[in-house]
Amino acid sequence: MAILKSVQLPKWLDDIIYNEFGAVYEPRPQDVKYNPDQQFEFVQLYLGTYFPRSYAEAYCIMNRLFDNPLYKQEFFMLEEINILDFCCGTGGEIIGLIHSLNYNLPNLKSVNIDAFDANPDAIRFLFHLMERINDIPNIRLSINIVPQGLFIENEMDMRDFVKIPNSLYHFVISFKALNEFVQSNTFPNKNVYDVVPSYLLPLLDEKGVLILSDLTHQHNGEYYPFVMTKGLNTCLKRSNNYKTIIPTPCFHYEEICQGCYLQESFHVTHSRKTRDLSKVAYRVICKSDFAQRIMQTKVTGSCRHTHAYADKSLPYNI
Ligand SMILES: C[S@@+](CC[C@H](N)C(=O)[O-])C[C@H]1O[C@@H](n2cnc3c(N)ncnc32)[C@H](O)[C@@H]1O
Repeated sequence: MAILKSVQLPKWLDDIIYNEFGAVYEPRPQDVKYNPDQQFEFVQLYLGTYFPRSYAEAYCIMNRLFDNPLYKQEFFMLEEINILDFCCGTGGEIIGLIHSLNYNLPNLKSVNIDAFDANPDAIRFLFHLMERINDIPNIRLSINIVPQGLFIENEMDMRDFVKIPNSLYHFVISFKALNEFVQSNTFPNKNVYDVVPSYLLPLLDEKGVLILSDLTHQHNGEYYPFVMTKGLNTCLKRSNNYKTIIPTPCFHYEEICQGCYLQESFHVTHSRKTRDLSKVAYRVICKSDFAQRIMQTKVTGSCRHTHAYADKSLPYNI
């Protein structure tokens, strides 16, 4: 099945962010690197530039998940779904996820979201956006969101944070945020993509998935996707209770993986830009029992294991 890689921002969402909230399209790669302290004006720029990309990434990843009929069947009768977004920012990925749930699960009635981030202006935008979404006729779901301020300074904060939620989640998501922990060296001498998932994975429901997505460029000579693959594989090997289901090759080979560069390109079109490009590396992980139940696919796509002679200096498409 062809993987969806290009989407249009829904008209109602485009109208709200650009016309009501004053969002601005202006890519600023240097300024967007670290966001907890960004001011209101920059958050408006984030909303107009990077929010639509996160929307598209989440919508396309969800589409890929629902392409698996066994996964979709497990969710088909559910009426209520819980989501946790770690470092939600303005929450483009939350709207992409909701849009996909709204489309794919006709029996679903309500979605409960716990969303955490350090930036108060970003959270405020997200809260007001969610107030508006409940009035949109295209979205029939009832959305209950609790956006919360949270600045993680060290591993102790992480330990305390995972005690806050009082439910398990069908989706734990984190988009384009863990690289900021790498930059600020929040967990000295540790791999962020090992530390953070080790706290988030136990919050998954029996059928829950962790969707971890991040940037693909490099920091101090190391590409984030390499660091992510290394950290996640270490975390999964240690706990032995979870497995990757997307990309499919990871399901088959993550135990013996020697390292890999993941990258996928998505495009989003909105009133301010046609086919805006976003490149991310992502993994979708769930409990091993659930993974074994829903994964009957053969290996698709390429990875270092299936293409041993590939040019290792080039990025891989998943
Ligand atoms: C690039 S933004 C991504 C936001 C959103 N997930 C998206 O894809 O649009 C990264 C977010 O991580 C948050 N963040 C970075 N470091 C953090 C920390 N130590 N504690 C809490 N939030 C943090 C920032 O405030 C920012 O909103």
